[in-house]
Amino acid sequence: MPGPGMELIGEEEKKELLEVLEGGYLFRYGSADDPAFKAKVYKLEQEVAKLAGVPYAVAVNSGTTALLVALSGLGVGPGDEVIVPGYTFIASMSSIIYARAIPVLAEVDRTLNLDPADVRRKITPRTKAIMVVHMLGNPARLDELKAIADEHKLLLIEDCAQAFGARYKGRAVGSIGDAGTYSFNIFKTITAGDGGMVVTRDEAAYRRFFGFHDQGHSPLRMGVEVGRRPFVGLDFRMTELTAAVLLAQLKKVDAIVAHLHANKQRFKQAIADLPGLEFREITDPEGECGTLLTVFLPSETMARQVATELGTRVVADSGWHVYANMEQILEKRTITAEGCPFTCPRYKGPEPKYWKGMLPQTDALLARAINISIGVSDAGLGSAFGVTMRDGFDAVDARAAQFRRVAQKYL
Ligand SMILES: Cc1ncc(COP(=O)(O)O)c(C=O)c1O
Repeated sequence: MPGPGMELIGEEEKKELLEVLEGGYLFRYGSADDPAFKAKVYKLEQEVAKLAGVPYAVAVNSGTTALLVALSGLGVGPGDEVIVPGYTFIASMSSIIYARAIPVLAEVDRTLNLDPADVRRKITPRTKAIMVVHMLGNPARLDELKAIADEHKLLLIEDCAQAFGARYKGRAVGSIGDAGTYSFNIFKTITAGDGGMVVTRDEAAYRRFFGFHDQGHSPLRMGVEVGRRPFVGLDFRMTELTAAVLLAQLKKVDAIVAHLHANKQRFKQAIADLPGLEFREITDPEGECGTLLTVFLPSETMARQVATELGTRVVADSGWHVYANMEQILEKRTITAEGCPFTCPRYKGPEPKYWKGMLPQTDALLARAINISIGVSDAGLGSAFGVTMRDGFDAVDARAAQFRRVAQKYL
């Protein structure tokens, strides 16, 4: 089952889409003086930049390509290390590898986001960037992480794929680092099936992001053209169809977040008095998305018993988002036989090694954690149990009562 936006696809999205189909312009570029060309991608970029409180946004075709554009556009490349949490979606790491840099895995703390203390320990003379991931809609410890990045002159890239609509102390996630990226796949706050966005305050970075996502062209393909393109780019463009759906979805973000907050608060209150039960630390309760409620049971055994009885799994066993379950990272399975970037002669550090158990703090936390769905029901996140966007307080109360019954047997 998908995320909140997907459950609200309706007439508004149809209307936006029809406008594009009837106008006949599916490509993001069209003739400005033809009223049939609706420039949906451009409008979406403007809207998302406004929401993020930054001047620049580039729409792309996924959250993964958004990360690759951000990394490459900011100059991360061969020889560089990027610190990334061990609890995240594979794309945070694969984008670093395709930027030809080395992912350095760091611990998460009770926020289930990067642990600033471990980030400090992982910095080497080769570190170029910190990729902070706001997992499960909850902003990471951005104050501390930004201070570390500034102190060591490192780039801070915010992977906000799971946190579109979240704010940290009044500012949108994605607007605090050197670049922020969003995903619009079906599990995210809003969706068009797939899609992504990169935002930044820096005009030079914006120009590089735009060029990289569109064959080296200047923003909106205006200005510098044949003979003067600054570098070779690729094609990660968004279509007008995707942007049309997202423009309709964007109007629903506030309502989505408000609904999730109300349901999450009610669920949390209903189980808060269970002895020994702890909650994930939320850095900004007003600002988080509220898509999931994560609880810690006192022991791994109890957590597994409770999860099994609820028909779900502890986060450590949930598959996709835990480094220890990523065989392609652990075994450094690259697409070509040469093994770059791990064996790149430009990389002067010791050969990187990844193994199960390398992040004991993360392993211990995730083994005791259960993700309860509030708006994202996804077996890959370990959130098969809970409620979804269409559910009201009745369903929340019923699910919370079920959780209490099961947890009480073991606590
Ligand atoms: C933390 C994180 N980063 C990046 C991505 C990649 O986004 P996409 O699926 O749009 O490529 C995801 C998607 O699940 C994600 O959860």
